[in-house]
Amino acid sequence: MQIRSFTENDIAAILAIQRQCPQAAQWKPQDYLELAREPGAVILVANLEPSNAPEVAGFAAFHQVLDEAELRNLAVHPSHQRKGVASALLGGVILRLQESGAKTLYLEVRPSNQPARAFYSAAGFRLDYTRPNYYRNPAEDALVMALEISSASHPSRL
Ligand SMILES: CC(C)(COP(=O)(O)OP(=O)(O)OC[C@H]1O[C@@H](n2cnc3c(N)ncnc32)[C@H](O)[C@@H]1OP(=O)(O)O)[C@@H](O)C(=O)NCCC(=O)NCCS
Repeated sequence: MQIRSFTENDIAAILAIQRQCPQAAQWKPQDYLELAREPGAVILVANLEPSNAPEVAGFAAFHQVLDEAELRNLAVHPSHQRKGVASALLGGVILRLQESGAKTLYLEVRPSNQPARAFYSAAGFRLDYTRPNYYRNPAEDALVMALEISSASHPSRL
């Protein structure tokens, strides 16, 4: 597996994964392009190379401001889940944040998204606080979870 920065050529694959993962934020192509242009923002993709045609299996988008960063979107294609792809992506995120001096990585997740909560807990995120009635369609609170970057190990097992 290869973790690399995204290029505009990855947008179609990212949107296809997003469509298969309704729990992920459903962004438009422009949202990715605009985020990638912001200082402190990085979008990573995970490439599987089963043959000579690399396949994008998942992506992670994050944004750093000073010593805080936010994981803005993360999804792995359902046919590649539970193979360590998100762990490898998070490892890439943490590596980059350690290099750029971030101290804390935050994210928001729906309480009903049990797979994502299990993943984040396994990766060492802790519940920071709850934002009441944050999400729409359907309405739901947001759990704000945080990971201390300086003490984080690389969760990638690949
Ligand atoms: C959450 C998500 C990104 C995890 O991706 P993944 O590549 O399957 O995760 P990994 O294989 O790296 O899992 C690492 C560990 O996290 C935990 N975990 C991951 N998915 C889990 C699940 N469905 N149920 C329980 N635990 C899970 C396990 O401890 C797992 O280790 P194990 O497989 O050895 O038991 C993936 O399920 C996904 O894309 N979901 C839809 C989009 C989404 O919800 N995004 C987050 C929005 S906040």
